[in-house]
Amino acid sequence: GVASAASKQGLDFVPVRPNSEDAVVVPEGFEQGVVIRWGDPILPGAPEFDFDAQTPEAQEQQFGYNNDFCALLPLRDDLRLMVNNHEYTTEEFLFRGYDPENPTEQQVRVAWAAHGLSVVVLETGDAAPKVRLDPLNRRITLNTEFEVRGPAAGSEYLKTPADPSGTRVFGTMNNCSGGVTPWGTILSGEENIHFYFANADSVTDPKAAERLARYGLKGGATERKWERFDSRWDIAQQPNEPNRFGWIIELDPYDPRSTPVKHTALGRFKHEGANIKVLDDGRVAAYMGDDEKFEYLYRFVSDEKMKSGESKHARRHNMSLLDSGTLYVAKLTGDSPATEIDGSGKLPSDGQFDGFGEWIPLAHNGESFVPGFTAEEVYVFARQAADVVGATRMDRPEDVQPHPTTGRVYAALTNNSDRGTDGKAGADEPNPRVTNKHGQVLELTETSPTTFTWNLLLVCGDPNDPATYFGGFDKTQVSPITCPDNLAFDSAGDLWITTDSTEALGANDGLYRVPLEGAERGHVMQFLSVPRGAEACGPVIEDDLVLVSAQHPGELDGASADNPVSHWPDGGDSQPRPSVVAVWKG
Ligand code: FEO
Ligand code: CA
Ligand code: CA
Ligand code: CA
Repeated sequence: GVASAASKQGLDFVPVRPNSEDAVVVPEGFEQGVVIRWGDPILPGAPEFDFDAQTPEAQEQQFGYNNDFCALLPLRDDLRLMVNNHEYTTEEFLFRGYDPENPTEQQVRVAWAAHGLSVVVLETGDAAPKVRLDPLNRRITLNTEFEVRGPAAGSEYLKTPADPSGTRVFGTMNNCSGGVTPWGTILSGEENIHFYFANADSVTDPKAAERLARYGLKGGATERKWERFDSRWDIAQQPNEPNRFGWIIELDPYDPRSTPVKHTALGRFKHEGANIKVLDDGRVAAYMGDDEKFEYLYRFVSDEKMKSGESKHARRHNMSLLDSGTLYVAKLTGDSPATEIDGSGKLPSDGQFDGFGEWIPLAHNGESFVPGFTAEEVYVFARQAADVVGATRMDRPEDVQPHPTTGRVYAALTNNSDRGTDGKAGADEPNPRVTNKHGQVLELTETSPTTFTWNLLLVCGDPNDPATYFGGFDKTQVSPITCPDNLAFDSAGDLWITTDSTEALGANDGLYRVPLEGAERGHVMQFLSVPRGAEACGPVIEDDLVLVSAQHPGELDGASADNPVSHWPDGGDSQPRPSVVAVWKG
């Protein structure tokens, strides 16, 4: 296996070249295999996938659609638990002859079941990991019951006819990225929830209307038209239902009967994901991005300390850590004169996009630090609370992840085509390019409980473009990279990045490695590319196994199930299927 190549250097490979293949392309000497595809049976007794005879009952037992985040946890011997997010559905790729004006109830219910998460036992003995139909396997869907916890549980803003207590929500959706906690649970971010609710224009109260607008909720029918089949998707009938999504959820994948949790203490926004760092004093911090143009970076710090060990008692305690603590938002300040940040991406005279910053507290449990906001309002309408305290508007914060050994925090800022355009915020040192097509990677070093320094590790794009920066490394030696999205670290401490670029550099998306220390810092090398139209996400990087999600293969303009432009992974004239791919040294 790759283990022999692991050591301090991590994986040894020659980078793949940018390409437009309808395939996963891996370096010379590596092998690949599809681990699981949309529709593959995961619950014991689940029916085989039949593209032309999909039912909600079958989908509830099969791997969901558009897998994004991927986690791999220990189980026993050669068995591992894999957990995947199923972010969203694109109905014209799920169904032949789909009529967007008249979805059928059957199609809508299939889509509800295709959202959520999957938990799957993998046999990882040798070569390609294999799915095992195990009693631990589980599907979480839009029909799964969740417990709402933390300071906004039971809030007036969360109560609905189906849940007068404001503490029980059916389902999770738009689960984008996530994280594995040190106590062996999964965190997952509910991201683009605003596309799923109709008729925000029915709300006349100005304050309520402003809140809906700040979260991107719009008037009229939704694209998917679910509101025709369940009134919870209709704001005119159930104005609080949108407030029940946009949270970080926590799932215990080791207990298939456990009730997953929505954590209100971590605030409500378009959560990309959350990742945990154990602080020096034993408390835990969760780092989070709100993936929208000009949105913020957030941090939660628990009140309680983590208990070590794997006893039931320690685990139960640790699974309550995210219930109480302080929610913060980030303010970043540059150290170069504003006149030197001209929006072109040209480095300022000190040679770095860098500076200092602070975590501004928003609320601590029942106590609000934001004038005009109750604590509940801070949590449920966190974006508006952050506006008040002068947080820094970033270029679409995606994954935010602490380094496992240095403790530095890395944030993927994927792009922002609106930076510096009419009436919008202009360039600043942490977001130094106007109409930013290619994004940047931020490195943040915490210097006290509420302060940090920061610098840009990467200013992404074609290395031939002078408005790029690769950690100071020789730009003639690096792979082009654009639109960083998901982050991971390997055993050598190198950063791995997947991209979601819609071909911003004219090539398929991929998985890249970049060392962070020493002479190799900034040496970006592309490890693999995903098929045409797909986004690369999820990555799991181990010494002898890499897992990557190929999300929405073939999702290009004009394509659909009636006109597929990708036939990956099954080939021939098959429909494309979002899948998890394993890569290992041959
Ligand atoms: Fe679902 Fe921010 O990517
Ligand atoms: Ca500077
Ligand atoms: Ca993402
Ligand atoms: Ca994405």
